[in-house]
Amino acid sequence: MAQLEVSDFAQAVIERMAECKDARFHQIMSSLVQHAHAFIREVDLTPEEWMAGIQFLTATGRKCDEKRQEFILLSDTLGISMLIVALDQARGARALADRPGEKPTEATVQGPFFWPGAPQLELGADIGEGHPGEPTYYHGRVTDTSGRPIANCEVDVWSGDADGLYDMQKGDSMSLRAQFRTDAQGNYRFWSIKPTFYPVPGDGPVGAMLDKMGRHLNRPGHMHMMLKAPGHERLVTHVFVKDSPYLESDAVFGVRNSLVVEFPKHEPGRAPDGRHMNKPYYTAKYDFRLVPSA
Ligand code: BEZ
Ligand code: FE
Repeated sequence: MAQLEVSDFAQAVIERMAECKDARFHQIMSSLVQHAHAFIREVDLTPEEWMAGIQFLTATGRKCDEKRQEFILLSDTLGISMLIVALDQARGARALADRPGEKPTEATVQGPFFWPGAPQLELGADIGEGHPGEPTYYHGRVTDTSGRPIANCEVDVWSGDADGLYDMQKGDSMSLRAQFRTDAQGNYRFWSIKPTFYPVPGDGPVGAMLDKMGRHLNRPGHMHMMLKAPGHERLVTHVFVKDSPYLESDAVFGVRNSLVVEFPKHEPGRAPDGRHMNKPYYTAKYDFRLVPSA
């Protein structure tokens, strides 16, 4: 019987898939096996190192529950989530190739703190009221890539509090999140707080991995936004605070230059929506462009 040597195992596994009926699955698994074997040969992985890897993945699974997704955090911190987002966006850009100049808003990671079913509020509502933090008026317009306004677009927003903690990390009640609908001209507006930088959850195996890698856990301040409108691709993105620390070294590699926004500070007085502010406040304006569905 021909014996398999170090360089042969990957091909032998691939040949065993000859009966596989799903062409895409076959392609993905063949490439995965080839790359995994090549990586193990390249670093000359020892049995102890392989067992440490298996124990790490086991601990990652054990850390997951309904509110905690340690595998997504692993994907995020290894840059894989952003690679998937960027590939998806490149696919969308190819679909727009015949319309040069029509640039959609860049996407970024969703992260683990999206909570479906946030309260549906009227435009202009204040979701930051009663929460420590610097009041900020967020506003802008949602259009398609050719500039046509998108009315009634669902705009989900969520952020951490002034200490960088999301509601899900603190308990069972929602805060600092809501769903809005754009008006007939595609405008959205709401009040919240100016988000601060914060660390991704570091008390699990991924935190230990980052520590061993000599990396910090921090993300720059950002407001999460998810936009959905019939006839358009869903957009998951952030608005990043321009002067925030960690813009250059986001723990999950999510920063896109086009999403970094000035948050000008204003003295107490009349805000753009007519509200009287008796303390300083910030404004953040961002216009979104959605890709029409294929
Ligand atoms: C977030 O922005 O909420 C987030 C993204 C990735 C990992 C952890 C948190
Ligand atoms: Fe976040």
